[in-house]
Amino acid sequence: MISIGFLGLGKMGSVMAPLILEAGYGLSVWNRSPEKADHIVGLGAKKVLTPAELANTTDIVISMLTDDAAIRAVYEGPEGLLSVPVNGKLFIDMSTLRPPTVHHLAQQVSTAGASFVDAPVSGTVAPAKLGKLLVLCGASKDDFERAQPILEIFGRRIIHAGPVGQGTLLKLVVNLPLAVYWGSLAEAIAMGNQGGLDLKLMLDAIQDSSAALAVLGLKVPTILGQSGPVAFDVASMKKDLLSMLDTGEKSGVPMPATNGVLDTYSATLDGGFGDADAVEIIRFMTEKMTQPN
Ligand SMILES: NC(=O)c1ccc[n+]([C@@H]2O[C@H](COP(=O)([O-])OP(=O)(O)OC[C@H]3O[C@@H](n4cnc5c(N)ncnc54)[C@H](OP(=O)(O)O)[C@@H]3O)[C@@H](O)[C@H]2O)c1
Repeated sequence: MISIGFLGLGKMGSVMAPLILEAGYGLSVWNRSPEKADHIVGLGAKKVLTPAELANTTDIVISMLTDDAAIRAVYEGPEGLLSVPVNGKLFIDMSTLRPPTVHHLAQQVSTAGASFVDAPVSGTVAPAKLGKLLVLCGASKDDFERAQPILEIFGRRIIHAGPVGQGTLLKLVVNLPLAVYWGSLAEAIAMGNQGGLDLKLMLDAIQDSSAALAVLGLKVPTILGQSGPVAFDVASMKKDLLSMLDTGEKSGVPMPATNGVLDTYSATLDGGFGDADAVEIIRFMTEKMTQPN
């Protein structure tokens, strides 16, 4: 039986990893904070002590980590995935990374005689739990065919965007309009609030107009201040915006909208909202960035 290793049991990884067991594969897990693995061990997974042990004991290794620094620590650090022989193994990274990091890792993995696939996802914790993400994959044809049955565990649809790195580029393409949408909604709602419009009334009107986005309905309770679990936080949105800007500017694309929304997200982060849901920029803009009338 193919054995799968999974690193990163955060908001996304903790709901994705159990699907591997449900699909009938053997599963080993590693997380930097080991106590977060206890739940999935109770479901039948094996907990390992280092990324190196994970690479040694499994055929396919999947990572779902915060950012580029985290992924490089786990691949290239002491007791990292690439500190042991990995010839013939398949590595699938599903985090949202910068394209140069993906190309660097793919090169390192290839030098070690193994295959690397980037497969970031669109969709958040709720679809992740149901295996209904949109998976955006960059891989050679052969590696894609090898990875596809595994990616289908997590996705309602798998898009093969092209060679390694293209899945990551497509992820930035998909997420950029969403980031700008939340920034524009923050400005619109702050403006309406200054003129005396009620928040609920504004959201109701927007949802019934051509300015409604599919995801807006899901986020209305958070925007109205009803507490619930945070899915995608302000710090992660800022990380992705920096990656979009770097990618766009390096390829000669002017990015005025992305620069503008980055300013709002940076202010929200600096205001102490880094762990809050990304839509909390709406409240921050209304309550903290807007001058009293
Ligand atoms: N949340 C979403 O809705 C969503 C949707 C689509 C894509 N994504 C992307 O998916 C990835 C994971 O997101 P998430 O929301 O699950 O993040 P998260 O809840 O913050 O979890 C991050 C994971 O990375 C680990 N980590 C962080 N720094 C590390 C380091 N230096 N070394 C080793 N492990 C490290 C954390 O370990 P500890 O437990 O020890 O902190 C945790 O397991 C990100 O790239 C994000 O952009 C997220």
